[in-house]
Amino acid sequence: MKAAVTAHPRYVVSEIDPRLYGSFIEHLGRAVYTGIYEPGHPTADANGMRRDVIDLVRELNISIVRYPGGNFVSAYNWEDGVGPKHERPVRLDLAWHTSESNEVGLHEFADWCASANTEMMLAVNLGSRGLDEARNFLEYTNHPGGSEWSDKRIANGRKEPFDVKLWCLGNEMDGPWQIGHKTADEYGRLAHETAKAMRAFSKSLELVVCGSSNAKMPTYPEWEATVLDHTYNEIDYISLHMYFDNEANDAPNYLAMSEKLDDYIASVAGVIAYVKAKKRSSKQVYISFDEWNVWYHSKEKDKKILGGNDGWPFAPPLLEDIYNFEDVLQVGLILNTFIRRSDVVKIACLAQLVNVIAPIMTVANGPAWRQTIFYPYLFASLYGRGNALDLKVESPTYKSIVAGDVSYVDVTGVHDTKTGHVTFFAVNRHSSEAIETVIDVAGFGAADIADYQVMTHADLKAVNSAENPGNVVPKKGSGASVAGGKLSLSLPAYSYQMIRLK
Ligand code: AHR
Repeated sequence: MKAAVTAHPRYVVSEIDPRLYGSFIEHLGRAVYTGIYEPGHPTADANGMRRDVIDLVRELNISIVRYPGGNFVSAYNWEDGVGPKHERPVRLDLAWHTSESNEVGLHEFADWCASANTEMMLAVNLGSRGLDEARNFLEYTNHPGGSEWSDKRIANGRKEPFDVKLWCLGNEMDGPWQIGHKTADEYGRLAHETAKAMRAFSKSLELVVCGSSNAKMPTYPEWEATVLDHTYNEIDYISLHMYFDNEANDAPNYLAMSEKLDDYIASVAGVIAYVKAKKRSSKQVYISFDEWNVWYHSKEKDKKILGGNDGWPFAPPLLEDIYNFEDVLQVGLILNTFIRRSDVVKIACLAQLVNVIAPIMTVANGPAWRQTIFYPYLFASLYGRGNALDLKVESPTYKSIVAGDVSYVDVTGVHDTKTGHVTFFAVNRHSSEAIETVIDVAGFGAADIADYQVMTHADLKAVNSAENPGNVVPKKGSGASVAGGKLSLSLPAYSYQMIRLK
């Protein structure tokens, strides 16, 4: 089989916002406790943060981390997580049926972000709370001093403001499972008034309003239209979430789901355009895809704790999906979709980062290790920065149930105009055939292969583990060549690859 691709530096979709490579830490399961924070761990720093985890997060080069939830935020009192640790209350977390010690809060997380070389994206609680708590939280976080809440921050040991720019106005408020769930009109009004108050504090904030929790919600896409109707001129982004599963154990359809993601983005971009026109607005709202990942491997196991049958455990193992090789392909396809849609998707957060549906896992008092999906995220985050190229792709296709005709070859290209590198990320969805692929790169001038990494495995269900972290890892590719302005490479059956030219 053969595929042909044309790339040219002048054919550009958009410059990629670095925040396309964001992630998410929620107070959920072992994400915080025994994930990023474990005071007794041999690698713990002076703040009790695991240095081995920080090193892996730094390796991923993550631009922003959303915090503190997720469903958790909808009944969270941010004040519980500041001040002397011994005075902080233990609370029952209603979202995940666990106990929250509040040992980690805003200050600890901010210090962790500085160590991990990333920035905070904060969420305010618009479930059980509202405008007043949001504006106090903002004042505490961002005001230099001389007011009640900013002086409390200073008294708590932090003189300089945290200066957080990006704020989520609640989480998944369309979901009946959410504490304080609202109708689109109720939420739209509240989000508008909260945004107005936050903007009165600072015009330079970037605000994210909740879109749909997924494209199967009965209120989608009317939710987006109503919420944007209320908020369009006060906010900057509408948030979308989507999780992928292969419960049906049907690889061809599983790997076609990224086409549904593409539809979801295109439809919401259409709703944004509709509301923009309706409001005669010159302002452009973008998408913050602030939760995405594969999530299903752990669902059966989690039922007991989530059903309340274990009482209120502290930091139990929840949502600890162990990812396989098939998920590498899926994550590669999702990232390719975001790159192709980087004209409308400016922010995207891999949900989540440590232990909870995460690329990084830890053993309490033991090692931290990389899941299979660590690698496609790593390559996109390292090299998917610059201009997303508008590629012309000719590939053989197959028929899927979920998305009709789907290309076997899914490929994106990113041109880093600062370094001159052009990088291609390609997935071959074919189960048994290699695809001989030629990419026309003549427009980039003479090019050599700077790096070529391939992930493939005889077993789609192969996983990594603490004992065997090297089972599913990238290997140096071979056989690719550039001649006469054409890059030729063979994409093995069921494979992910990253190839860089300079
Ligand atoms: O990421 C896990 C959960 O998924 C989040 O808490 C929630 O926002 C979503 O439903």
